[in-house]
Amino acid sequence: MEVPTRYSENIKKLEVELDEVFINLKLPQVDEKGLSREFLWEALGRTKEAGKYDQYLHMLWVSLAFKDAMMVLGINNPEILKSGVAGAACHDVERIEYPYIVDAKKMKPQDWEILKRHPERARALLLPKDILAADLAGLHHEWQKPKPGTFYGPYPNPINFEPSQEAQLLSKALAIVDFYHRASTTTNGRTPRPWYEKYVLDRLLRQGRPNQDRVEQAVKKEYGDLDLTYKGDKMPKIRTNGQEFLKKMYCLGVFGADDLMERYTKPER
Ligand SMILES: [Fe+2]
Ligand SMILES: [Fe+2]
Repeated sequence: MEVPTRYSENIKKLEVELDEVFINLKLPQVDEKGLSREFLWEALGRTKEAGKYDQYLHMLWVSLAFKDAMMVLGINNPEILKSGVAGAACHDVERIEYPYIVDAKKMKPQDWEILKRHPERARALLLPKDILAADLAGLHHEWQKPKPGTFYGPYPNPINFEPSQEAQLLSKALAIVDFYHRASTTTNGRTPRPWYEKYVLDRLLRQGRPNQDRVEQAVKKEYGDLDLTYKGDKMPKIRTNGQEFLKKMYCLGVFGADDLMERYTKPER
C-alpha cells in the first residue's frame, strides 16, 4: 500500500536523523561480525518491507529517544552509546511475524508464543555483532510488572543469559522509553481495528498523544519505583530511580512534547 506523501516526508526526516546518529557513532565498517550501519538499516528494513510501519517508526523513535535517555543518565562512552542505539533500533525487529490484525481477545496461545519470543530473537540477531546491544534487546520486557491473567510481565521467562551490569541498567531505561512510546501512541498491537498504514501513521504522527497526563501516570506507575543504579566500572556511577529519571526526561522535553514527533519532525496539519 502506498504511504501518503506527507507521512513519508516525516518518516524520511526520522530516518535522516537516525542515520546521522549512526554516522556520528562511527559504527565500524562492514566485516563478518562487526556491527555496521548497513546491518542496522537492513534489520530495520525487514520490518518496513513487511509493511509494519508502526513497528518501524516505533523503533526509529525509540532509538533516537533512547540515545537522549543515555545522555540524561550521564553516559558518554561512545562504545556504550553505540551499543545502546543499536539495541534500541532493533529491539522489536522480530515482532514482524506477530499477527496484528487479530483481535487481542481472540488471539490464540500460539500467537502469544510468537510475540513472547521477540526479545530473545532480537537478541540472537544482534549477538554476533554486539553483545551489549543484544542483551538490551533481550531484556527490554524484563522489567515490566507482572499482571496476573495477562501475558504482560517479564518474558521470556526465565532469561537464559547472564546480563552485564551495563545491560541491566540500560535495559531498564530502554524499557521506560519503549513503554512511554507505546503508551503515547496506542500502537500496541492489540487494537482490534483494521491495521493499515494510514491508520497507523495517523495515530503516530497526528493524534498520537490523546492524553499526556494519563501517559505520564501510566509510565510512573509502571516504572517510577524502578532502581536505576549502576556500580560497575565501564560507565559513570549512576544512582537514581524511575521517578527521578522520568522527571528529567520530561524537563528536557524528550518526553511530553506537545506533538509526538515534534522534536524530529513538523507534521503538516
Ligand atoms: Fe518489545
Ligand atoms: Fe518496543
